[in-house]
Amino acid sequence: MAAEAQHTGRIVILGAGIAALTAALRLAPCPVLVISPAPLGQGAASALAQGGVAAALGAGDSVAAHVADTLEAGAGIVDGLMAGIVAEAAPGCVAALAAGGVAFDRTPAGDYALSQEAAHSQPRVARVEGDRTGAAILSALIAAVRQAPSVQVVEGLAAERLEVTAGRVTGVWLGQPGRVARLIRAPAILLASGGAAGLYTVTTNPGHIRGQGLGMAARAGAAVADAEFVQFHPTALHVGGDPAPLLTEALRGEGARLVNRLGVPFMAGQHKAAELAPRDIVARAVYAQSQAGLAPALDARAIFAPGGPAHFPTVSAACARAGLDPARDLLPVAAAAHYHMGGVACDAQGRSSLPGLWVAGEVASTGLHGANRLASNGLLEAMVMAGRAAQDIAAERAWSPEPELAVPPLPPAAALPDEAPLIRRLRALMTEGCGVIRDGSGLRHALDALRALDQQAQTDSAKNMVAAATLIAAAALLRCESRGGHFRADHPQPDPELARRSRLFLADALALRDEKVPADVA
Ligand code: SIN
Repeated sequence: MAAEAQHTGRIVILGAGIAALTAALRLAPCPVLVISPAPLGQGAASALAQGGVAAALGAGDSVAAHVADTLEAGAGIVDGLMAGIVAEAAPGCVAALAAGGVAFDRTPAGDYALSQEAAHSQPRVARVEGDRTGAAILSALIAAVRQAPSVQVVEGLAAERLEVTAGRVTGVWLGQPGRVARLIRAPAILLASGGAAGLYTVTTNPGHIRGQGLGMAARAGAAVADAEFVQFHPTALHVGGDPAPLLTEALRGEGARLVNRLGVPFMAGQHKAAELAPRDIVARAVYAQSQAGLAPALDARAIFAPGGPAHFPTVSAACARAGLDPARDLLPVAAAAHYHMGGVACDAQGRSSLPGLWVAGEVASTGLHGANRLASNGLLEAMVMAGRAAQDIAAERAWSPEPELAVPPLPPAAALPDEAPLIRRLRALMTEGCGVIRDGSGLRHALDALRALDQQAQTDSAKNMVAAATLIAAAALLRCESRGGHFRADHPQPDPELARRSRLFLADALALRDEKVPADVA
C-alpha cells in the first residue's frame, strides 16, 4: 500500500547539477528542497563538462557576434530572443562566478584566457585549468549550497513520477531502487535533471542520465520541443569506457588534427574550418571513418609535448587510465552522444506547458541551441536560465521560512525486475536506429522496438527512459530533412519549409509509434 503523501512548503528542485544548484542559490531566501539522486557532486553531467562558458569577453568580441555564431551553429532554427538573452547575460555570469571563487584561467596580464572552439568566430570560451570548468563551477556551487540556510538537500532519492492535479503539477513521487516511492506535494517544482545522451551506447554523459526527467515530464503531459536534435561529440576517447572520456574540442582549437589509420587528415576536404567545423559535421566525418574501419584518431602530440601550449589535466588523466600517452600516441576517437538540444519545451522564464513545473539545464528546450548547440553554450544556458526560472518562481507568491522536511526511509518494495537488460536493448536500438545517421526505415524499426520495450517496462524509471527515447525517435521520423545534429540519409538536405522548431506531446509520439498518424506530418 502506498505511504501517505507528505507536504512541504518548499520549492522542490529535482537534480543536483549546475542548473539545479544555481537555481537553489538564486531562490534564497525562498525555502528550497533539492532532491539529488546521488551524493552532491557525484553523478551530475556538469562535473564532466570540459568545455567552458562562452561569453563575449575578448577585445573585439561582442554580444552580437556571440548571438550570430549561436544562430549560425543552430542551423536556422535558433530562437533569436533566447540567444540574445543568454549571450547578453554571459559576461556577467562569468564575472559572478569569478567573484564567487571560480578561478578561471587568466593571461599574464590578468584577462580571461579565452579558448577557441568549433563554430565560434573568435576565442570566446572561459575555462578553468583548461578542461576542469564543469567540476570547478559545480564544487563552488556545492560549497555555497552547503552554507545556504534556505536550502535543504536530500541525497539518494530520485524523481520517478509527477503528480498532476487539475492540470497543475502538485507533487513528485520520489523513489529508490527496490523501495516504495513516496509522494511529496509541493507548491512549485523545478526540473533540472540533465539530458538524455545516456540513451546511446557510446556517450560522454554519466551512464545513468538517460532522459528520465524528460520522459517523466512528458508522461505528465508536458510539451516537448526539438526532441530529434541530439548532439554527438566527435572526439570521445574510444577505449571502451562508459561514459567515454571526452577529448575536449579545445584540443582542436589548439591545433590537434584528426587522422585515420592510414595517416590521412580527413577533415581538410570536408569543411573550410576543417577540425573546427560545426560539431555535427566533424561528428559525421568521424563516424564515417569508424564505419569504414579507418580507426579515426586525434593527433594531439604537439600539444602534450614538453613545452607544448596547453594544460589539459582531465584529458591527460583519461589517457593515462587508458594506458595512452598523448605526447606520444594517437588517441582513438568515436562520435559519442553528448548533449540533447531537445527537451521539455519552456519559455524565457523556464515555465513548461504544465503550470507548477519549471525546467532548466539540459532537460529544458529553450530554443537557444536550435539544431546544433554552439560549444560551451550549455553550461552558460544552464546558469542563465536557472537564474531566470528562480526569479520567476520567487515572484509567484510570498514565500515564508519552512521547516526542513524529514523524509523517512522508504519501505522495501516487492522484488523489482532488473532494468539492466531493458536498458541495454534501449541503448542499442537508439544507437542503431536513431544515431548519427538516420533514415525512415531505421526510425520506424526503432519505434517498433520501443513499443515492445514499453510493454516490458515495469518501473517508472524504465517507462520514463522509454518515453524519452520514443519522443526522440518520433520527432526524428517526423523531420524529413537534415539539419544540424539530425541527419537523415533518405533526406540529406535541409528543407527551407521545415526551418522551424518541433513540438510534440508524448501522446503524439505514441500515436505515430502505433501508426495512427502519417509519418510525414511535421
Ligand atoms: C568540449 O570541450 O569539447 C565540450 C564543450 C561543450 O560540449 O560545450
